[in-house]
Amino acid sequence: MEFIDTHTHTYDEAFDGCEDEVIARAVAAGVSTMLEADIDSRERGRMLALTARHPGVLRHMIGLYPGSVRDDWRDEIDALEAARTPEAVAVGEIGLDYHYGKEFAEQQKEAFRVQLELAAQWDLPVNIHLRDATGDFLDIIEDCRHLHLRGNLHAFSGSWETFSRLSRSGDWYVGIGGVVTFRKASIAAELHRFPLDRLLLETDAPYLTPVPHRGERNESSMIPLIAAEVARLTGESLEAVAAATTANARKLFAL
Ligand code: NI
Repeated sequence: MEFIDTHTHTYDEAFDGCEDEVIARAVAAGVSTMLEADIDSRERGRMLALTARHPGVLRHMIGLYPGSVRDDWRDEIDALEAARTPEAVAVGEIGLDYHYGKEFAEQQKEAFRVQLELAAQWDLPVNIHLRDATGDFLDIIEDCRHLHLRGNLHAFSGSWETFSRLSRSGDWYVGIGGVVTFRKASIAAELHRFPLDRLLLETDAPYLTPVPHRGERNESSMIPLIAAEVARLTGESLEAVAAATTANARKLFAL
């Protein structure tokens, strides 16, 4: 079986010095490809250096994470435009996050819109980070319908209704990660409503470690645990989940 981790941060400082072992364990677990999600100009150098050392296994996105949006966001956009190469598979992770407050909400919305326009201009999918901002997010996506966007909602925790509304404004997938293994996770209860051809697997490592490893550092080798829970909740076989999610990732990110 082959799996693809569509959202991870193997370059994160949490892995400092053991990235190669982490990547080798993931490959041994059947994870053929890991998509590294970008955060901002401070982290990007580490990410690009690591993906360059593991061509064919690690691929990267470029984007400004909403939690990194400050008054200097236009400089950050200039930096990511300058960092764009043909190897980038998506613009991400981008979006809105009001969880820690709305101090930079206006800047986040502007930076998000500009990056959606860049994705359309570059003909790339987008990898969305959305937390506690669904209303503003849907308003922007619907306003950008003319861009014919495609992409995925990473660590999706919303409802089928939200996803259905979103799907009227583009070609969208949902990224399912370790949260699906948590007791009382809303996505676990919703998952059976999503067709397999809309699902992607992801870890968001080093965060969101699946059961039974909660409390440990997450890594891409845990993808089969997430796939097994998706199989259990959807009533599909593990083989079917692996095949569908891998095919979906290849199609969306042109891998
Ligand atoms: Ni992430």
